[in-house]
Amino acid sequence: MHCVRKVTDDLYWVGANDKRIHLFENIHPLEDGVSYNAYVLLDEKTVLFDTADWTVGRQFLENVEYVLNGRKLDYMVINHMEPDHCASIEEIILRHPEVKVVSTEKAFLMMNQFKFPVNDNFIQVEAGDTMKFGKHEVVFINAPMVHWPEAMVTLDTTNGVLFCADAFGSFKSIDGKLFADEVNFDRDWLDEARRYYTNIVGKYGPQVMNLLKKAQTVDIKMLCPLHGLVWRKDLGYIIDKYVHWATYKPEEQGVLIVYASMYGNTEATAQKLASMLCEKGFTNVRMYDVSKTHVSYLISDVFKYSHIALCSVTYNLDLFPPMKTFLDDMKALNVQKRVVAVVENGSWAPQAATKMEERLDEMKQMTVLNEQVSVLSSLNTSTERELENLADSIIESMSQSYF
Ligand code: FEO
Repeated sequence: MHCVRKVTDDLYWVGANDKRIHLFENIHPLEDGVSYNAYVLLDEKTVLFDTADWTVGRQFLENVEYVLNGRKLDYMVINHMEPDHCASIEEIILRHPEVKVVSTEKAFLMMNQFKFPVNDNFIQVEAGDTMKFGKHEVVFINAPMVHWPEAMVTLDTTNGVLFCADAFGSFKSIDGKLFADEVNFDRDWLDEARRYYTNIVGKYGPQVMNLLKKAQTVDIKMLCPLHGLVWRKDLGYIIDKYVHWATYKPEEQGVLIVYASMYGNTEATAQKLASMLCEKGFTNVRMYDVSKTHVSYLISDVFKYSHIALCSVTYNLDLFPPMKTFLDDMKALNVQKRVVAVVENGSWAPQAATKMEERLDEMKQMTVLNEQVSVLSSLNTSTERELENLADSIIESMSQSYF
C-alpha cells in the first residue's frame, strides 16, 4: 500500500521508514529506525529527487508509482550516492527506461562503480547550472563532503524548496509526521538529529559551513533532507544548531563525564566528581560508562557540552580499550575547542592520564586543565582534595573564554 505525504501542492514525499534496522551504516545503533526520504515533483515534467535504501525498495517504488499515477518519469535528480539513497536507482531505470538521470560528474563515476545501467541517458550538471521542469526551475549547488565528495543540493528557485541531501537529516523514523513543526523537536528529535550529524557528517564541519554560507545567499523556505523531518517553519533554529556543530562550538556550558572503570573504583571517583560539581551549584552534568554506552552517543554529547571530564583506569600500561576508542573517534570526527579534565586510576603504574593527554594533544584547541588527579586504586583523603580542586577548576573555567 502506498504511503506518501504532500509537501507542497505539487511535491510529494515518497520515502519510507525502516524501523527494523538496528545499525545505521552497520555501526550506529538506531533505537527508533530511520527514514529514507525521496520526493516527486509533478510539473510539466515529472522529477524524482533521490531514491531510497533497498531495504525499503518496495514501499518506495509503490509510492513513486502512486504519485506518478500513470505518468512517465522524465527526470531523476541524484544529490547523493551513498547506497542508503542511491540503491534503488537501477530499479527506477528498469521501470522508467526513458528517465534522464541528473547529477554530478563524480556521482556518475560512482553509478558506474555500483554498476547502475545509466548508459547515455544522463545529464551531467555543475554548480550553478539550472534546469526548468515547467513552472519550477532548479539550480544545482555543489556540497562536497556533505557528506561524500560527489554530493550536491538542489534548490527550487520557484518556491525556495531545498533538497539538501544529508544536511539537516536525523536518525529516527518519521512515522507519519513529516514536518518538524508536527513534533516536539527539542524533546523528541534534537538528540537524535545531533547524533546523526556528529557521527555521520561531524568530521566535515568546514565543508558544512561552506554550504551554509552558500545557503545564506539564496532564498530558502523549506529544507527537504534525505533523512528525518522536513523544515518549513523556524529554519533559523536548525540552521543555528548546524552552525554550532559545524564550528565545533558547544551548545551548552555543561560537563560530560565519561569514565572507564573495571571494578567500580574509577566509577566511584567519577560519581564523586559529579557530586562535587552539583554540591558547588553546577548541575548541568551528564555521566556515561564508556563500556556500556555506544560511542556514537558520547560523540553526540561531546559536541553538545563545553567541558569533558575523562576518568580512566589504566589497562596493560595503556588506556582502557573503550576509552581509547572514544578518544580515537573524537579525533576522527574533528572534535575541538573543549575544556578537558583528566582523572586516572591505577593500582601499580597509573598511565591513563599521560595516554589521554597524548591523544588530546593530537586534537585542535583542546584545553586540558592543570589540576589532574591520579588515583591509586581508590580515592583517599589526599586524592579527594585533588578532586575537589579539579571540580573548582572546572567551574572556574566556565567563566573564561578559551576559544
Ligand atoms: Fe544518508 Fe551519506 O547518506
